[in-house]
Amino acid sequence: ISAHLTIDPHFTVGAINRRLFGSFVEHLGRCVYDGLYEPAHPDANEDGFRRDVIALVKELGVSTVRYPGGNFVSGYRWEDGVGDRALRPTRMDLAWHSLETNQIGLDEFARWLGEVGSELMYAVNLGTRGVQEALDVLEYANVRSGTALSDQRVANGTTQPHDIRMWCLGNEMDGPWQLGHSTAEDYGQVAVKAARAMRQLDPDLELVVCGSSGAGMPTFGQWERVVLEHTYDEVDYISCHAYYEPHGGDFGSFLASAVDMDRFIESVVATADHVKALRRSDKTVDISFDEWNVWYQSRYNEVDKITGVDDWPVAPRLLEDSYTVLDAVVVGSLLISLLRHADRVTSASLAQLVNVIAPIMTEPGGPAWRQTTFFPFAITSALAHGSTLELKLDCPRYATGLYGDVPVVDAVATHDAEAGTAVFLVNRSLEEAVTIEIDVALLGAVELGSVRTLHDDDMHAANTLGEPDRVGMKHNDTARLVGGVLTLTLPPVSWTALTLA
Ligand code: AHR
Repeated sequence: ISAHLTIDPHFTVGAINRRLFGSFVEHLGRCVYDGLYEPAHPDANEDGFRRDVIALVKELGVSTVRYPGGNFVSGYRWEDGVGDRALRPTRMDLAWHSLETNQIGLDEFARWLGEVGSELMYAVNLGTRGVQEALDVLEYANVRSGTALSDQRVANGTTQPHDIRMWCLGNEMDGPWQLGHSTAEDYGQVAVKAARAMRQLDPDLELVVCGSSGAGMPTFGQWERVVLEHTYDEVDYISCHAYYEPHGGDFGSFLASAVDMDRFIESVVATADHVKALRRSDKTVDISFDEWNVWYQSRYNEVDKITGVDDWPVAPRLLEDSYTVLDAVVVGSLLISLLRHADRVTSASLAQLVNVIAPIMTEPGGPAWRQTTFFPFAITSALAHGSTLELKLDCPRYATGLYGDVPVVDAVATHDAEAGTAVFLVNRSLEEAVTIEIDVALLGAVELGSVRTLHDDDMHAANTLGEPDRVGMKHNDTARLVGGVLTLTLPPVSWTALTLA
């Protein structure tokens, strides 16, 4: 198969916001406890955080971390997690049917983020709670001192305010599984009240209102319209969430998941802009794609789910998907979709970060390692600078069960006057290699930098506790740059990143 791509640095889609490379930490399974926090681990720091995990999170290049949930947040009492640890209550977390010991809360997590060097994005509980509790946690977090709750934070040892800029107004309120699940009408009314009140306290907050928990939800589209009709003037972002997995061995459709993500983003942009027109507004609401990943959700529902009034484990092994090369190629292609929409997707969070559908895995008392999905995320975060470019790509198409005929190759390019150009490519063919010619003449006199490909003859290969380095990135030695044309071969089921400077 052959394909052709032209890169022109003059035509840009939009500037890339670093917040596109965010992630997500939920009090779920072993993400926090026995994940990033394990005081008995030989590599734990004085706060009980694993240094090896901190190092891997830094290497991953995570800009923003959404916290503390997820479904968890819709039953969470934030004040349980602050103050004297010995006095913190143990509670039932109904979302994941686990026990929450509250040994980690806002102050500890913010300290961990300080070590990692990432920004905190905080979600408030609009499931079992409302406007007052949202104001309370905002006061505790962002007011310097001199009020009841800010003084409590200072007394708890955090003298400086956390100064959290991004706040999520609840989580997936359209989902029947969510504590406090609402209609769009009811949620829109609560969300606008919470937003107005929070801005009365701190006017410069950036607020994210809940969009649909998936494009397949029966209320999708209508939910966004109704919620935005209530909240448009008060919010900056509407959220999108999407998880992908292969169904019935249909890997061709699975590899085309980014086609679905493209359509999802474009539908939400159209809906937000429709409300903008109705309101004669000159403000634009962007997308916070604050949960996205490959997730073998069917396995959770059929095997892992905990139930029963007497069964409340602490930090159970939940959602611990072991990711393959195939999964990582899909993750790489989802990053291509997000970058392609950099003009409107200005925040995103890979769900999640440690152990729970995560690029980083840990074993209690043992090692931490990189899953296959670590590589496309870390490399894209490191190389995508400046603006996304509009591309002209010609390649054959193939038929999928879920999304019709889709291009075999997908690609995105980013360009920055200083950092140079990066190109990210995916070959979705299950059997055939693609030879691609990339016309780079318009970039001027450039040299080829690194060319790395993620591929394995066994697309189901994974990194595991027993074999943590089974899969990695390999130098692609087929690349040749001659007379302004770069030619290279993309193996079947592969993801490639290359640089030109
Ligand atoms: O990331 C796992 C779960 O997926 C989150 O808690 C929830 O928001 C979504 O349904």
